[in-house]
Amino acid sequence: MTSSRTSPGTIDLGHQGFGAMRLRENDSSDPDRDPFRVIGAALDAGVRMIDTADAYQNEDLVGRAIAPHRDDVVLASKFGLVWHDDVTGNFDIRADAEYVRQACEASLRRLRTDRIDLYYLHHRSETIPIEETVGAMADLIAAGNIGAIGLSNVTAEDLRRAHAVHPVAALQEQWSLSERSIENTLAQTAAALGITVVAHSPTSHGALHGSTSDEREDDPRQAALREIAAAHDASVGQIALAWVHSRGPSFGGDVVPLPGTTRVGHARANVAAASINLAPTELARLSDTWSTNA
Ligand SMILES: NC(=O)c1ccc[n+]([C@@H]2O[C@H](COP(=O)([O-])OP(=O)(O)OC[C@H]3O[C@@H](n4cnc5c(N)ncnc54)[C@H](OP(=O)(O)O)[C@@H]3O)[C@@H](O)[C@H]2O)c1
Repeated sequence: MTSSRTSPGTIDLGHQGFGAMRLRENDSSDPDRDPFRVIGAALDAGVRMIDTADAYQNEDLVGRAIAPHRDDVVLASKFGLVWHDDVTGNFDIRADAEYVRQACEASLRRLRTDRIDLYYLHHRSETIPIEETVGAMADLIAAGNIGAIGLSNVTAEDLRRAHAVHPVAALQEQWSLSERSIENTLAQTAAALGITVVAHSPTSHGALHGSTSDEREDDPRQAALREIAAAHDASVGQIALAWVHSRGPSFGGDVVPLPGTTRVGHARANVAAASINLAPTELARLSDTWSTNA
């Protein structure tokens, strides 16, 4: 693997990232659930980018898990989403320049590193102009604290305004067969500006792995996934993930899917999905059936 230290705006995120949001310390004796092994397995399988956030409250764990591999990892974190009481409750958005500096300093400490390779604003602010936030992030690049700027949960207008202040390397938004709002305008704007889309929750928080009990046998969307999966000797979740990989070429931009898991076996299976080549007819069938509610 090559070094992650590239110039701002042109960071190499690899073909597929690893989302660490759900990783927690655990005392399970099951090696498949060991968070250190999970991250190690993803990296061994070829993942470069490990994604966390201060709001996930696991930067300390992620920092320790990537430490032995630090030079081979593109470390991504986020700031700005501040929980009120607990991680499932309401949140505030902090995006003022002073907060950006404080949040980065705290994340660097927890992550035990001197640089976050890709640093995201986690969610747009209704009160702080994006220019102020991105200006402060540009200062962090100049100081060597972060390598590149990312934005998440923003509008196309935010993206344009931010990119005019400093090149934005990545846009992180949800993108899956069942969540395609990004295809309305954001994906096109990102492609036009040369910004890589990091597609989070590419299996819709796991729903597309097909383990839900409310699936109907005659649902054409599930039938498409099942039949295409059988043809490729793959799981339905792997096919859903392979479909997200296909969206880059469809939109003329770069798309890096960001699945997350807490299991070693699932980490390997998700990386393997990136090598599945779906035929144009299969892609069209998936796109068509999943564009309507069954
Ligand atoms: N920017 C944002 O606002 C935002 C929001 C949400 C998420 N994210 C990022 O996106 C990443 C992924 O999001 P996500 O976890 O919500 O969605 P996801 O990757 O679509 O789904 C994760 C779920 O799928 C299961 N799973 C994963 N691989 C599997 C496999 N091969 N077979 C069967 N089940 C599998 C996981 O369970 P197991 O643990 O048992 O495998 C987990 O329940 C996060 O880690 C985070 O980095 C960003």
